[in-house]
Amino acid sequence: MSAEQSTVVVSQNQGETALIMMQNAPVNALSKAVRVGLIAEIEAALNNANVKVIVISSQLGLFSGGADISEFSSGNLQPNLPEVLDLIENANKPVVAVLNGPAFGGGLELALACHYRISFADNKVGLPEVNLGILPGAGGTQRLPRLTGVAQALDMIVSGKPVKAAALNGVFDLIVDDPAKLMSESQAFVAQLINDGCEIKRVKDIEIDTETAPSELFSQYRQGIAKQARGFFSPERCIQAVEAAVTLPLKDGLQKEAELFMECMRSPQARAQQHFFFAEKAAGHVSDYDKSTPVRDIKSVGIIGAGTMGGGIAMNFANAGIPVVMLELKAEALEKGLGVIRRNYENSAKKGKLSQQDLEDRMALLHGTTEYSGLADVDLVIEAVFEKMDVKKQVFTQLDAICKKGAILASNTSTLDINEIADCTSRPEDVIGLHFFSPANVMKLLEVVKGEKTSADVIKTSMQLAKKIRKVAVLVGVCFGFVGNRMIEPYGREANRMMLEGADPEHVDRVIYDFGLPMGPFTMGDMAGLDIGYFVRQSRKEHIAHDPSYAVVADRLVKDGRAGLKVGKGVYLYEAGNRKPIPDPTVAQIAKEEAEKLGVKPRKHSDEEILERCIFTLINEGAHILEEGIAAKSSDIDVIYVYGYGFPVFRGGPMQYADEVGLDKVYAAMCKYRDELGEYGKAWFEPAPLLKRLAEQGKRFADFAK
Ligand code: 3HC
Ligand code: NAI
Repeated sequence: MSAEQSTVVVSQNQGETALIMMQNAPVNALSKAVRVGLIAEIEAALNNANVKVIVISSQLGLFSGGADISEFSSGNLQPNLPEVLDLIENANKPVVAVLNGPAFGGGLELALACHYRISFADNKVGLPEVNLGILPGAGGTQRLPRLTGVAQALDMIVSGKPVKAAALNGVFDLIVDDPAKLMSESQAFVAQLINDGCEIKRVKDIEIDTETAPSELFSQYRQGIAKQARGFFSPERCIQAVEAAVTLPLKDGLQKEAELFMECMRSPQARAQQHFFFAEKAAGHVSDYDKSTPVRDIKSVGIIGAGTMGGGIAMNFANAGIPVVMLELKAEALEKGLGVIRRNYENSAKKGKLSQQDLEDRMALLHGTTEYSGLADVDLVIEAVFEKMDVKKQVFTQLDAICKKGAILASNTSTLDINEIADCTSRPEDVIGLHFFSPANVMKLLEVVKGEKTSADVIKTSMQLAKKIRKVAVLVGVCFGFVGNRMIEPYGREANRMMLEGADPEHVDRVIYDFGLPMGPFTMGDMAGLDIGYFVRQSRKEHIAHDPSYAVVADRLVKDGRAGLKVGKGVYLYEAGNRKPIPDPTVAQIAKEEAEKLGVKPRKHSDEEILERCIFTLINEGAHILEEGIAAKSSDIDVIYVYGYGFPVFRGGPMQYADEVGLDKVYAAMCKYRDELGEYGKAWFEPAPLLKRLAEQGKRFADFAK
């Protein structure tokens, strides 16, 4: 046994019990060293005549986070987990799993292969493999339905959601209420087991209870998840694996599970979703600070502007138990903003997501003021007033005068220059961008925008605070639109340009929807309000002055009073109270007129062209952003796009998608449109230097580090 194996799995004999403990920090991932260690310790216990019962548990705070995901790409899986579990299941001495903490994926499967399982009531267990684009591949799809019944197993495996041990019927032989008594009660259980003659209860001997699987269960389940599973590969394979548990003996079911597992594992979606798992963790690894960097204490927050964003932002803090002071210039605006927040909470309460007491507790944390002096004592202020530089500067000048020393001054601007805002204060090191996404109380993403002078402790405090309010924070640099909004611009531009070239908006929307986004660019534009994009374009006229065709149809629609869903007409028409877009031939006519005025030739757009022009130009902008250092790594961009823009997680984010397609292909497509689309192509399709370089070197965005 290597030194590594001997430290990640340790064993000690306590009387007639061999106690095998996993200690592979941080999460007891079942890496090769753990598997080898388990085999060695189990075999030693089986060969030791003094040992009557084997107990498997953990030295860490959790039982196991499952298979080691970082090993999947290496292919170095021998001995594989099913082999370890076979050894356990067929052992001729009882093996007891004592789950002293959460058990996920292979960790739970390890317990299911044991002959007895013990845990405490509130412990969390689950089979989250579906979130990694795969399915439980170590017997979970076959053993769990045998223990808990088909319906509950199906739901756990397909949803990937954890459940409390106490809610998992039929799986545990002993559930202890008090976690502190787990080990002593486990010892008593084992003593009784020895006393009773060491009976071995193997899951493989359990006949599946087909009454828990009526014939319509699977078809109904498929229908029930159709919407949320749209585009995903592994949920259907999860269902097929559980179906196999119902129809096949365990041995054949395990074989079927292994085939389906490998089918998933080889899919681009598994690569994408596993990439995303690590991308999300990596977003928290930031080189701007380290362990020694201090963190400021944020006990209270001020929010300026109680509009759409201010209200949502305030809810995040109230939800986390942090008091908020909201500032508006007029009492009516303040009252309106607080009223909207109350209604939002009341809606949650009606849906049973919030108790009346919680609602009142949260509202009690929200205070209003119309005086800047009301912000003198807060630890953090987030400004969410109109998107105008002069208004922002007025606000920050006042904050500088009134806020206490050490308070963090943040702006929720979606586009403006944080450095310029910071420079109107005497303390630019305390100024940062905290860019929330709408609706701010729902969307998980937070772009943390560091200015040139923002201090390391302000960055660290902001990143940690994000976790407290249950956001996923990504650190970005300053540029127009930061990462997310800057990249969305070419995407929208191409959709609009194709409409001008004669593409039906519903065709463009369908292609993007089929790719996996929640909606296409025109439906999204109508929903957000076409006037918003119009005002952005107006404020950036010099940036697009060289292209008279830039969103010309959208501009005309706004001027014609078609601002989108809120007025019942935009690119589409809407019936009152209905969000379903209805195609309107007038828009095609407007596009035709505008194209004729500008001499833009009609063009036939294939699905492929629509996808490439929208998504590859977005990716190309991502390549600029990466090389400029606005995003530190390509995976950060992926996190922003999945959490901020609904980019399908089964594609891993735009940069992972490009890596999967191959950067040579993305580059070639950019060159193709540059050359095919005349002056327009030359203006907007020049491949980013980084894309060109990596494509020529046969590399991926993921390989790029500045
Ligand atoms: N494999 C490899 N690394 C893992 C891992 C795993 N299964 N689970 C977590 N890690 C790593 C994380 O990347 C992170 O690394 P970092 O410190 O470098 O960022 C570190 O462990 C700590 O992770 P968290 O910050 O997430 O720790 P928490 O304490 O917040 O959460 C957890 C612990 C609940 C276990 C959470 O990490 C988690 O959900 N992990 C994934 C669980 C999972 O999906 N298991 C299924 C694996 S696939 C499988 O088992 C296949 C089998 O069926 C054959
Ligand atoms: P909004 O118009 O809904 O709210 C702005 C609020 O600020 C209004 O209630 C207004 O009365 C108040 N206000 C204006 N000037 C003020 C001042 N000097 N002092 C105090 N209060 C003042 O606007 P919204 O949508 O909430 O946007 C606010 C900020 O958030 C903008 O910078 C915007 O770019 C940014 N943002 C908006 C997003 C969105 O989807 N709406 C998304 C992300 C950021």
